Amino acid sequence: MNVLILGNGGREHAFAYKISQSKKLSNLYIAPGNAGTALCGTNMGIAATDFEAIKNLVWEKDIDMVVVGPEDPLVNGIYDFFKADEVLKDIAIIGPSKAGAQLEGSKDFSKEFMIRHNIPTARYQTFTAATLQEGLKFLETLNPPYVLKADGLAAGKGVIIPETLAKAKKELTEMLANAKFGSASAKVVIEEFLKGIELSVFVLTDGQHYKILPAAKDYKRIGEGDIGLNTGGMGAVSPVPFADTTFIKKVEERVAIPTLKGLQQENIIYKGFIFIGLMNCGGEPYVIEYNCRMGDPETEVVLPRIKTDLLELFEAVANEKLDTIDLEVDERIATTLMLVSGGYPEEYEKNKVISNLDKIKDSIVFHAGTKIENEQVLTNGGRVIAITSFGNSMEEAISKSMKNAEIISYDKKYYRKDIGKDLMKLEKQAN
Ligand code: AMP
Ligand code: GLY
Repeated sequence: MNVLILGNGGREHAFAYKISQSKKLSNLYIAPGNAGTALCGTNMGIAATDFEAIKNLVWEKDIDMVVVGPEDPLVNGIYDFFKADEVLKDIAIIGPSKAGAQLEGSKDFSKEFMIRHNIPTARYQTFTAATLQEGLKFLETLNPPYVLKADGLAAGKGVIIPETLAKAKKELTEMLANAKFGSASAKVVIEEFLKGIELSVFVLTDGQHYKILPAAKDYKRIGEGDIGLNTGGMGAVSPVPFADTTFIKKVEERVAIPTLKGLQQENIIYKGFIFIGLMNCGGEPYVIEYNCRMGDPETEVVLPRIKTDLLELFEAVANEKLDTIDLEVDERIATTLMLVSGGYPEEYEKNKVISNLDKIKDSIVFHAGTKIENEQVLTNGGRVIAITSFGNSMEEAISKSMKNAEIISYDKKYYRKDIGKDLMKLEKQAN
Protein backbone atom coordinates (compact mmCIF):
# COMPACT_ATOMS: atom_id res chain seq x y z
CA MET A 1 0.00 0.00 0.00
CA ASN A 2 1.20 3.54 -0.77
CA VAL A 3 0.32 5.90 2.05
CA LEU A 4 0.31 9.68 2.40
CA ILE A 5 0.24 11.32 5.85
CA LEU A 6 -0.83 14.97 6.05
CA GLY A 7 0.72 17.22 8.69
CA ASN A 8 4.09 18.15 10.17
CA GLY A 9 4.06 17.66 13.94
CA GLY A 10 4.98 15.09 16.54
CA ARG A 11 1.64 13.38 15.96
CA GLU A 12 2.46 12.88 12.30
CA HIS A 13 5.95 11.58 13.11
CA ALA A 14 4.33 9.05 15.46
CA PHE A 15 1.95 8.00 12.64
CA ALA A 16 4.88 7.75 10.21
CA TYR A 17 6.94 5.74 12.72
CA LYS A 18 4.13 3.23 13.25
CA ILE A 19 3.09 3.00 9.60
CA SER A 20 6.71 2.51 8.48
CA GLN A 21 6.69 -0.69 10.58
CA SER A 22 3.61 -2.10 8.82
CA LYS A 23 4.00 -5.19 6.69
CA LYS A 24 1.36 -3.74 4.37
CA LEU A 25 3.40 -0.63 3.49
CA SER A 26 5.06 -0.13 0.10
CA ASN A 27 5.86 3.61 0.03
CA LEU A 28 5.26 6.30 2.63
CA TYR A 29 4.97 10.02 1.90
CA ILE A 30 4.42 12.85 4.34
CA ALA A 31 3.19 16.33 3.35
CA PRO A 32 4.81 18.50 4.46
CA GLY A 33 6.47 16.46 7.25
CA ASN A 34 9.53 17.37 9.32
CA ALA A 35 13.10 16.16 9.90
CA GLY A 36 11.74 13.17 11.85
CA THR A 37 9.18 11.99 9.32
CA ALA A 38 11.98 12.10 6.72
CA LEU A 39 13.51 9.12 8.58
CA CYS A 40 10.34 7.05 7.98
CA GLY A 41 9.37 8.06 4.43
CA THR A 42 9.63 10.82 1.85
CA ASN A 43 8.63 14.38 2.73
CA MET A 44 6.79 16.33 0.06
CA GLY A 45 6.80 20.13 0.20
CA ILE A 46 3.02 20.51 0.10
CA ALA A 47 0.76 22.09 2.73
CA ALA A 48 -1.81 19.82 4.40
CA THR A 49 -4.56 22.26 3.35
CA ASP A 50 -3.60 22.56 -0.36
CA PHE A 51 -6.18 20.13 -1.73
CA GLU A 52 -5.30 20.59 -5.42
CA ALA A 53 -1.60 19.92 -4.79
CA ILE A 54 -2.54 16.89 -2.65
CA LYS A 55 -4.73 15.61 -5.47
CA ASN A 56 -1.82 15.82 -7.92
CA LEU A 57 0.50 14.11 -5.47
CA VAL A 58 -1.97 11.27 -4.86
CA TRP A 59 -2.26 10.77 -8.60
CA GLU A 60 1.46 10.99 -9.27
CA LYS A 61 2.54 8.64 -6.45
CA ASP A 62 -0.36 6.22 -6.83
CA ILE A 63 -1.44 6.70 -3.21
CA ASP A 64 -3.96 4.20 -1.78
CA MET A 65 -4.60 5.80 1.59
CA VAL A 66 -4.42 9.32 3.05
CA VAL A 67 -4.07 9.65 6.83
CA VAL A 68 -5.09 13.14 7.94
CA GLY A 69 -3.23 14.36 11.05
CA PRO A 70 -4.45 17.90 11.86
CA GLU A 71 -7.98 19.33 12.06
CA ASP A 72 -7.72 22.08 9.44
CA PRO A 73 -7.95 19.91 6.30
CA LEU A 74 -10.77 17.91 7.91
CA VAL A 75 -12.79 20.97 8.91
CA ASN A 76 -12.14 22.36 5.40
CA GLY A 77 -13.66 19.17 3.94
CA ILE A 78 -10.80 17.08 2.55
CA TYR A 79 -12.91 13.92 2.92
CA ASP A 80 -15.74 15.41 0.83
CA PHE A 81 -13.23 16.81 -1.70
CA PHE A 82 -11.88 13.29 -2.33
CA LYS A 83 -15.28 11.61 -2.44
CA ALA A 84 -16.64 14.17 -4.94
CA ASP A 85 -13.73 13.67 -7.34
CA GLU A 86 -13.94 10.95 -10.02
CA VAL A 87 -10.20 10.24 -9.79
CA LEU A 88 -9.93 10.28 -5.98
CA LYS A 89 -13.22 8.83 -4.78
CA ASP A 90 -11.93 5.30 -4.13
CA ILE A 91 -8.89 6.37 -2.15
CA ALA A 92 -9.15 5.63 1.56
CA ILE A 93 -9.20 8.70 3.79
CA ILE A 94 -8.61 8.25 7.50
CA GLY A 95 -10.58 11.18 8.89
CA PRO A 96 -14.23 12.26 9.08
CA SER A 97 -16.36 14.11 6.53
CA LYS A 98 -16.71 17.89 6.79
CA ALA A 99 -19.98 17.43 8.69
CA GLY A 100 -18.28 15.05 11.14
CA ALA A 101 -15.36 17.44 11.65
CA GLN A 102 -17.89 19.99 12.95
CA LEU A 103 -17.63 18.11 16.26
CA GLU A 104 -14.37 20.06 16.55
CA GLY A 105 -14.96 22.88 14.06
CA SER A 106 -17.88 24.39 15.95
CA LYS A 107 -18.21 24.35 19.74
CA ASP A 108 -21.87 25.33 19.36
CA PHE A 109 -22.53 22.38 17.02
CA SER A 110 -20.76 19.96 19.33
CA LYS A 111 -22.62 21.17 22.43
CA GLU A 112 -25.97 20.90 20.61
CA PHE A 113 -24.99 17.43 19.39
CA MET A 114 -24.25 16.35 22.97
CA ILE A 115 -27.58 17.70 24.20
CA ARG A 116 -29.47 16.03 21.31
CA HIS A 117 -27.92 12.68 22.16
CA ASN A 118 -27.97 12.93 25.93
CA ILE A 119 -24.20 12.93 26.33
CA PRO A 120 -23.02 14.30 29.70
CA THR A 121 -21.48 17.78 29.38
CA ALA A 122 -21.42 21.11 31.21
CA ARG A 123 -24.55 23.33 31.13
CA TYR A 124 -24.15 26.10 28.53
CA GLN A 125 -25.66 28.81 26.36
CA THR A 126 -24.45 30.34 23.09
CA PHE A 127 -24.40 34.08 22.34
CA THR A 128 -23.66 36.38 19.39
CA ALA A 129 -22.96 40.14 19.12
CA ALA A 130 -26.74 40.66 18.83
CA THR A 131 -27.32 38.85 22.14
CA LEU A 132 -24.30 40.24 24.05
CA GLN A 133 -26.51 41.83 26.73
CA GLU A 134 -28.20 38.47 27.42
CA GLY A 135 -24.72 36.88 27.59
CA LEU A 136 -23.61 39.40 30.20
CA LYS A 137 -26.76 38.64 32.22
CA PHE A 138 -26.21 34.87 31.86
CA LEU A 139 -22.72 35.29 33.34
CA GLU A 140 -24.33 36.80 36.44
CA THR A 141 -26.27 33.56 37.02
CA LEU A 142 -23.07 31.44 37.10
CA ASN A 143 -20.47 30.93 39.81
CA PRO A 144 -16.78 31.70 39.14
CA PRO A 145 -14.61 30.72 37.38
CA TYR A 146 -16.34 31.31 34.03
CA VAL A 147 -15.70 29.31 30.85
CA LEU A 148 -15.90 31.24 27.55
CA LYS A 149 -15.31 29.40 24.28
CA ALA A 150 -14.97 30.91 20.81
CA ASP A 151 -17.23 28.82 18.56
CA GLY A 152 -14.77 28.25 15.70
CA LEU A 153 -11.18 27.03 15.35
CA ALA A 154 -8.79 29.37 17.16
CA ALA A 155 -5.55 27.34 17.14
CA GLY A 156 -6.20 26.01 20.65
CA LYS A 157 -6.42 29.53 22.12
CA GLY A 158 -10.17 30.08 21.93
CA VAL A 159 -11.04 29.04 25.50
CA ILE A 160 -10.78 31.63 28.26
CA ILE A 161 -11.41 30.92 31.94
CA PRO A 162 -11.68 34.24 33.85
CA GLU A 163 -11.73 34.08 37.64
CA THR A 164 -13.97 37.10 38.24
CA LEU A 165 -17.31 38.27 36.86
CA ALA A 166 -15.81 41.61 35.80
CA LYS A 167 -13.08 39.90 33.76
CA ALA A 168 -15.57 37.45 32.26
CA LYS A 169 -17.82 40.33 31.12
CA LYS A 170 -14.84 42.16 29.61
CA GLU A 171 -13.68 39.03 27.74
CA LEU A 172 -17.18 38.26 26.44
CA THR A 173 -17.49 41.81 25.13
CA GLU A 174 -14.07 41.60 23.45
CA MET A 175 -14.90 38.27 21.83
CA LEU A 176 -18.36 39.25 20.55
CA ALA A 177 -18.21 43.01 19.99
CA ASN A 178 -14.51 43.37 19.10
CA ALA A 179 -13.99 40.01 17.30
CA LYS A 180 -11.07 39.03 19.57
CA PHE A 181 -10.67 35.74 17.67
CA GLY A 182 -11.91 37.06 14.32
CA SER A 183 -14.82 35.13 12.85
CA ALA A 184 -14.11 32.21 15.25
CA SER A 185 -15.66 34.28 18.06
CA ALA A 186 -18.73 35.49 16.13
CA LYS A 187 -20.49 33.02 18.44
CA VAL A 188 -19.36 32.32 22.00
CA VAL A 189 -20.32 29.36 24.16
CA ILE A 190 -20.50 30.16 27.88
CA GLU A 191 -20.51 27.10 30.09
CA GLU A 192 -20.46 25.94 33.64
CA PHE A 193 -17.00 25.25 35.09
CA LEU A 194 -16.40 21.55 35.73
CA LYS A 195 -14.16 20.63 38.65
CA GLY A 196 -12.23 17.40 38.30
CA ILE A 197 -9.29 15.73 36.60
CA GLU A 198 -8.96 15.96 32.84
CA LEU A 199 -8.11 13.14 30.49
CA SER A 200 -8.68 12.10 26.90
CA VAL A 201 -10.16 8.94 25.46
CA PHE A 202 -9.69 8.13 21.78
CA VAL A 203 -12.10 6.20 19.63
CA LEU A 204 -11.30 4.84 16.18
CA THR A 205 -14.42 4.19 14.11
CA ASP A 206 -15.31 2.96 10.64
CA GLY A 207 -18.80 4.48 11.00
CA GLN A 208 -20.32 1.14 12.09
CA HIS A 209 -17.87 -0.39 14.54
CA TYR A 210 -15.34 1.10 16.92
CA LYS A 211 -12.28 0.47 19.04
CA ILE A 212 -11.60 2.34 22.26
CA LEU A 213 -7.89 3.19 22.18
CA PRO A 214 -5.73 3.72 25.27
CA ALA A 215 -6.58 6.83 27.30
CA ALA A 216 -4.02 9.59 27.86
CA LYS A 217 -3.48 12.66 29.99
CA ASP A 218 -1.99 15.78 28.47
CA TYR A 219 -0.20 18.63 30.30
CA LYS A 220 -1.46 21.80 28.65
CA ARG A 221 0.13 24.69 30.53
CA ILE A 222 3.64 25.99 29.95
CA GLY A 223 4.67 26.08 33.61
CA GLU A 224 5.35 23.37 36.18
CA GLY A 225 2.40 22.75 38.49
CA ASP A 226 0.15 23.43 35.48
CA ILE A 227 0.36 27.20 35.61
CA GLY A 228 0.85 29.90 32.97
CA LEU A 229 -0.26 30.06 29.36
CA ASN A 230 -1.94 27.24 27.48
CA THR A 231 0.21 25.39 24.96
CA GLY A 232 -0.48 22.65 22.43
CA GLY A 233 0.63 20.20 25.14
CA MET A 234 3.89 19.82 27.08
CA GLY A 235 3.80 16.10 27.76
CA ALA A 236 1.48 13.14 28.07
CA VAL A 237 1.08 9.81 29.81
CA SER A 238 -0.84 6.66 28.93
CA PRO A 239 -2.57 4.81 30.54
CA VAL A 240 -4.15 7.19 33.04
CA PRO A 241 -4.16 5.57 36.52
CA PHE A 242 -7.47 7.12 37.68
CA ALA A 243 -9.22 6.05 34.46
CA ASP A 244 -9.81 2.46 35.54
CA THR A 245 -11.98 -0.07 33.70
CA THR A 246 -15.12 1.10 35.53
CA PHE A 247 -14.54 4.69 34.42
CA ILE A 248 -13.67 3.72 30.83
CA LYS A 249 -16.79 1.55 30.70
CA LYS A 250 -18.85 4.63 31.69
CA VAL A 251 -17.14 6.62 28.93
CA GLU A 252 -17.91 3.88 26.43
CA GLU A 253 -21.57 3.53 27.42
CA ARG A 254 -22.45 7.16 28.12
CA VAL A 255 -20.25 8.93 25.58
CA ALA A 256 -18.64 6.79 22.86
CA ILE A 257 -21.66 4.69 21.89
CA PRO A 258 -24.20 7.59 22.00
CA THR A 259 -21.75 9.70 19.95
CA LEU A 260 -21.43 7.03 17.26
CA LYS A 261 -25.20 6.37 17.25
CA GLY A 262 -25.81 10.11 17.04
CA LEU A 263 -23.53 10.43 14.02
CA GLN A 264 -25.33 7.53 12.32
CA GLN A 265 -28.78 8.93 13.09
CA GLU A 266 -27.76 12.27 11.62
CA ASN A 267 -26.28 10.57 8.54
CA ILE A 268 -22.84 12.02 9.25
CA ILE A 269 -20.03 10.00 7.66
CA TYR A 270 -17.23 9.40 10.13
CA LYS A 271 -14.27 7.11 9.46
CA GLY A 272 -11.47 8.18 11.69
CA PHE A 273 -10.52 9.22 15.18
CA ILE A 274 -12.79 10.84 17.74
CA PHE A 275 -10.81 12.52 20.50
CA ILE A 276 -13.03 12.84 23.57
CA GLY A 277 -11.72 15.44 26.02
CA LEU A 278 -13.22 14.56 29.41
CA MET A 279 -13.43 15.77 32.96
CA ASN A 280 -13.57 13.04 35.58
CA CYS A 281 -15.84 14.65 38.18
CA GLY A 282 -15.80 12.32 41.17
CA GLY A 283 -15.77 9.23 38.96
CA GLU A 284 -18.38 10.52 36.47
CA PRO A 285 -17.30 11.47 32.93
CA TYR A 286 -18.34 14.80 31.39
CA VAL A 287 -17.34 15.79 27.87
CA ILE A 288 -15.34 19.02 27.63
CA GLU A 289 -14.77 18.84 23.92
CA TYR A 290 -14.51 16.62 20.90
CA ASN A 291 -11.69 16.77 18.39
CA CYS A 292 -11.96 15.15 14.99
CA ARG A 293 -8.37 13.84 15.03
CA MET A 294 -5.77 12.41 17.37
CA GLY A 295 -4.18 14.63 20.01
CA ASP A 296 -0.65 15.93 19.99
CA PRO A 297 1.31 14.93 22.15
CA GLU A 298 -1.21 12.20 23.15
CA THR A 299 -0.52 10.32 19.89
CA GLU A 300 3.13 10.03 20.92
CA VAL A 301 2.08 7.85 23.90
CA VAL A 302 -1.04 6.18 22.49
CA LEU A 303 0.34 4.85 19.19
CA PRO A 304 3.56 3.35 20.59
CA ARG A 305 1.31 1.28 22.91
CA ILE A 306 -0.72 -0.14 20.03
CA LYS A 307 0.79 -3.44 18.91
CA THR A 308 -1.69 -4.12 16.11
CA ASP A 309 -0.42 -3.27 12.62
CA LEU A 310 -1.65 0.30 12.13
CA LEU A 311 -2.30 -0.08 8.40
CA GLU A 312 -4.35 -3.20 9.08
CA LEU A 313 -6.44 -1.13 11.48
CA PHE A 314 -6.78 1.73 8.98
CA GLU A 315 -7.66 -0.62 6.14
CA ALA A 316 -10.41 -2.04 8.32
CA VAL A 317 -11.64 1.51 8.98
CA ALA A 318 -11.82 2.22 5.27
CA ASN A 319 -13.60 -1.10 4.54
CA GLU A 320 -15.96 -0.88 7.52
CA LYS A 321 -14.50 -4.08 8.95
CA LEU A 322 -13.10 -2.82 12.23
CA ASP A 323 -15.07 -5.59 14.01
CA THR A 324 -12.79 -8.19 12.44
CA ILE A 325 -9.61 -6.81 14.01
CA ASP A 326 -8.25 -7.41 17.49
CA LEU A 327 -6.70 -4.38 19.11
CA GLU A 328 -3.55 -5.40 20.94
CA VAL A 329 -2.21 -2.94 23.48
CA ASP A 330 1.14 -2.87 25.28
CA GLU A 331 0.41 -2.99 29.03
CA ARG A 332 3.43 -0.88 29.90
CA ILE A 333 3.26 2.81 30.71
CA ALA A 334 4.31 5.30 28.06
CA THR A 335 5.21 8.90 28.80
CA THR A 336 6.28 11.70 26.51
CA LEU A 337 8.08 14.91 27.35
CA MET A 338 7.90 17.86 24.97
CA LEU A 339 11.02 19.97 24.46
CA VAL A 340 10.01 23.45 23.32
CA SER A 341 11.67 26.65 22.11
CA GLY A 342 12.41 29.27 24.79
CA GLY A 343 9.59 31.84 24.79
CA TYR A 344 6.91 29.43 23.52
CA PRO A 345 3.86 29.73 23.50
CA GLU A 346 4.61 33.41 22.94
CA GLU A 347 7.34 34.63 20.61
CA TYR A 348 10.29 32.31 20.07
CA GLU A 349 13.21 31.90 17.70
CA LYS A 350 13.68 29.16 15.11
CA ASN A 351 16.69 27.71 13.25
CA LYS A 352 18.64 26.57 16.33
CA VAL A 353 20.90 23.59 15.68
CA ILE A 354 19.69 20.47 17.54
CA SER A 355 22.50 18.16 18.65
CA ASN A 356 22.94 14.75 20.29
CA LEU A 357 19.85 13.19 18.68
CA ASP A 358 22.09 10.22 17.82
CA LYS A 359 22.97 9.71 21.50
CA ILE A 360 19.46 8.77 22.62
CA LYS A 361 18.96 5.28 24.03
CA ASP A 362 15.86 3.77 25.69
CA SER A 363 13.47 6.39 24.26
CA ILE A 364 11.77 7.15 20.96
CA VAL A 365 12.45 10.64 19.63
CA PHE A 366 9.46 12.13 17.79
CA HIS A 367 10.15 15.35 15.94
CA ALA A 368 7.49 18.04 16.38
CA GLY A 369 8.93 21.29 15.00
CA THR A 370 12.14 20.49 13.12
CA LYS A 371 13.59 20.71 9.63
CA ILE A 372 16.77 19.64 7.87
CA GLU A 373 19.10 22.21 6.31
CA ASN A 374 22.60 21.44 5.08
CA GLU A 375 22.38 18.04 6.75
CA GLN A 376 21.73 19.65 10.13
CA VAL A 377 18.53 19.28 12.13
CA LEU A 378 17.19 22.72 13.10
CA THR A 379 14.33 23.87 15.33
CA ASN A 380 11.35 24.98 13.26
CA GLY A 381 8.51 25.49 15.72
CA GLY A 382 7.42 26.15 19.30
CA ARG A 383 7.20 22.49 20.17
CA VAL A 384 10.41 20.87 18.94
CA ILE A 385 10.90 17.25 20.08
CA ALA A 386 8.73 14.77 22.01
CA ILE A 387 10.69 12.11 23.91
CA THR A 388 8.60 8.98 24.49
CA SER A 389 9.65 6.22 26.89
CA PHE A 390 8.17 3.01 28.22
CA GLY A 391 8.32 1.74 31.77
CA ASN A 392 6.74 -0.81 34.05
CA SER A 393 6.05 2.13 36.34
CA MET A 394 5.44 5.79 35.58
CA GLU A 395 8.62 6.69 37.47
CA GLU A 396 10.67 4.43 35.23
CA ALA A 397 9.19 5.80 32.00
CA ILE A 398 9.51 9.43 33.08
CA SER A 399 13.08 9.08 34.31
CA LYS A 400 14.15 7.73 30.89
CA SER A 401 12.52 10.69 29.10
CA MET A 402 14.03 13.15 31.61
CA LYS A 403 17.53 11.72 31.17
CA ASN A 404 17.27 12.02 27.40
CA ALA A 405 15.76 15.52 27.63
CA GLU A 406 19.04 16.63 29.20
CA ILE A 407 21.11 15.00 26.47
CA ILE A 408 19.35 16.58 23.46
CA SER A 409 20.60 20.12 23.16
CA TYR A 410 19.73 23.39 21.43
CA ASP A 411 19.81 27.04 22.40
CA LYS A 412 16.95 28.08 24.76
CA LYS A 413 15.61 24.55 25.21
CA TYR A 414 12.78 24.35 27.78
CA TYR A 415 10.67 21.50 29.15
CA ARG A 416 8.52 20.77 32.16
CA LYS A 417 10.10 18.56 34.79
CA ASP A 418 6.84 17.61 36.51
CA ILE A 419 5.07 15.55 33.85
CA GLY A 420 3.21 12.69 35.54
CA LYS A 421 4.08 13.85 39.06
CA ASP A 422 0.46 14.71 39.92
CA LEU A 423 -0.62 11.21 38.90
CA MET A 424 2.13 9.55 40.91
CA LYS A 425 0.98 11.56 43.94
CA LEU A 426 -2.63 10.47 43.40
CA GLU A 427 -1.51 6.84 43.11
CA LYS A 428 0.44 7.12 46.36
CA GLN A 429 -2.60 8.62 48.11
CA ALA A 430 -4.78 5.79 46.81
CA ASN A 431 -2.41 3.05 48.03
P1 AMP B 1 -11.10 23.01 25.01
O1 AMP B 1 -10.42 23.76 23.91
O2 AMP B 1 -12.58 22.97 24.93
O3 AMP B 1 -10.44 21.69 25.30
O4 AMP B 1 -10.75 23.83 26.35
C1 AMP B 1 -9.43 24.07 26.74
C2 AMP B 1 -9.25 23.75 28.19
O5 AMP B 1 -10.10 24.55 28.99
C3 AMP B 1 -9.62 22.34 28.55
O6 AMP B 1 -8.59 21.46 28.28
C4 AMP B 1 -9.94 22.45 30.01
O7 AMP B 1 -8.74 22.44 30.77
C5 AMP B 1 -10.54 23.81 30.11
N1 AMP B 1 -12.01 23.71 30.09
C6 AMP B 1 -12.81 23.74 29.00
N2 AMP B 1 -14.11 23.64 29.35
C7 AMP B 1 -14.14 23.56 30.69
C8 AMP B 1 -15.19 23.43 31.66
N3 AMP B 1 -16.46 23.42 31.31
N4 AMP B 1 -14.83 23.37 32.95
C9 AMP B 1 -13.55 23.41 33.33
N5 AMP B 1 -12.52 23.53 32.48
C10 AMP B 1 -12.80 23.59 31.17
N1 GLY C 1 -3.03 17.99 23.09
C1 GLY C 1 -4.31 18.51 22.83
C2 GLY C 1 -4.73 18.47 21.43
O1 GLY C 1 -4.14 17.83 20.57
O2 GLY C 1 -5.73 19.12 21.12
